[in-house]
Amino acid sequence: MKVRATIHRDFALAQIDNRLYSAFIEHMGRAIYTGIYEPDHPTANAHGFRQDVLDLVKALDIPAIRYPGGNFVSAYKWEDGIGPQADRPVRLDLAWRSKETNQVGINEFARWADEAGIEMMLAVNLGTRGIEDARNFVEYCNHPSGTAWSDLRRSHGVADPYGVKMWCLGNEMDGPWQIGHMEAKEYGRLADETSKAVKAFGGGIETVVCGSSNDEMPTYPDWERQVLEECYENVDYISLHKYFGNSSRNSLNYFAKIEETGRYIQSIAGVIDYVKAKKRAKNDVFICFDEWNVWYHNREEDSKNWHSWDWPEAPALLEEDYNLEDALFVGGLLNEFIRRSDRVKIACIAQLVNVIAPIRTQTGGPAWATSIYYPYQFASLYGRGTALNVAVDGPRYDAEVAQDVNYLDVAAVLAPGGKEITVFAINRHLETEMDLNMALHGFTNVTLIDHQVMGGDASQARVANTCAQPDLVKPRKGDKLSVEDGGLTGQLPAFSYSVIRLSVG
Ligand code: AHR
Repeated sequence: MKVRATIHRDFALAQIDNRLYSAFIEHMGRAIYTGIYEPDHPTANAHGFRQDVLDLVKALDIPAIRYPGGNFVSAYKWEDGIGPQADRPVRLDLAWRSKETNQVGINEFARWADEAGIEMMLAVNLGTRGIEDARNFVEYCNHPSGTAWSDLRRSHGVADPYGVKMWCLGNEMDGPWQIGHMEAKEYGRLADETSKAVKAFGGGIETVVCGSSNDEMPTYPDWERQVLEECYENVDYISLHKYFGNSSRNSLNYFAKIEETGRYIQSIAGVIDYVKAKKRAKNDVFICFDEWNVWYHNREEDSKNWHSWDWPEAPALLEEDYNLEDALFVGGLLNEFIRRSDRVKIACIAQLVNVIAPIRTQTGGPAWATSIYYPYQFASLYGRGTALNVAVDGPRYDAEVAQDVNYLDVAAVLAPGGKEITVFAINRHLETEMDLNMALHGFTNVTLIDHQVMGGDASQARVANTCAQPDLVKPRKGDKLSVEDGGLTGQLPAFSYSVIRLSVG
């Protein structure tokens, strides 16, 4: 299968915001407890954080992390998680029917984020609470001293304010499952007023208003229109959420869901433009895709657990064993974010540890990288800079969710400084190797730095990394690509994900 592709130094799509490679972690399942925090674990540091997990997290170079939820935040009292740990109340978490011990709260999490080198992005509870609790939380986190909330923080051993810049105004407020779910207009008004209060603290705070929980909600996309009509001038981002799966075991249709996601982004960009025009607004609102991932392997089984009345503490929920096919899918979805980086400025993989996550742990045992860890890592490490347009001329296919889908899924990024290009390429074809010929215009002295590849055999699509066999799905060095006449040429194996790094002049 022959594919011609072309890129040109001057044909840029957008400057990529580094926060495109952010993450999300919730007080849910074993994400926090026995995920990042396990004081009895052999690798735990002085603050109770698992060092083996921290090492895997650090290697991802994550720019920002959204916390503490998710559905959890909609009934959460952040004050339960401050002060001496022994005095903190145990509560029932209504979202995931679990027991919350509050041993990790904002100060423990901030310490972990600091150790991991990640900026915090915090969500306020607009389900059971409102403006006052949100403003108190911001004052506790961001005000230096001399007020009740800031001095309380100082009395808890945190002298310097955190200066948190990104605040999410609730979570999935359109979802009937949400504690405190609202109608669009009602939520839009509350988000507007809360955003004004949160921003009144200064320091360049940015806010994220809730869009639909996904593009299949009956109120989508009118929810976005109604909400933005209430708050457009006072917010900076609108959130998108989407989870994916391949229950029908049709790989090509699964991969085509990436095109469907492109339509979702495009539709919300249209709604943003419509409201901006209608309001004669001067400011821009961008997209924060703050929950995305593959979630289907154990979904049915899991939902039985989160509907039980046992109220377990840190139960194993949504612990997906991701396979090779999921890695190809995640690589493609990250490519779509790069291609849409003019509108999508922040995106968060949901979640980071144990719960639908690139990193898994065993309580008291090892931590390991799932298959999707690698495409996420490559995008975070090499997907920063300028997104370049890639023109593709090659065979296509029709799927149920999208037609005319390219077998080659590709994105290209010119690194800051203009001396390196990274090409992320997925050959979605199940059986056929791809003969790639990529012309690189506007560049000189092109040389191949590295080619890493995952996959190559669709019969291995469902092979996954597990605790017992954590290294089955991993990148390896590719040897079938070279630079000829200033262009990239060679073969991409069938059913494979590639990261190709080129030095350019
Ligand atoms: O990430 C798991 C859950 O998915 C989140 O709590 C919620 O926001 C979404 O529905």
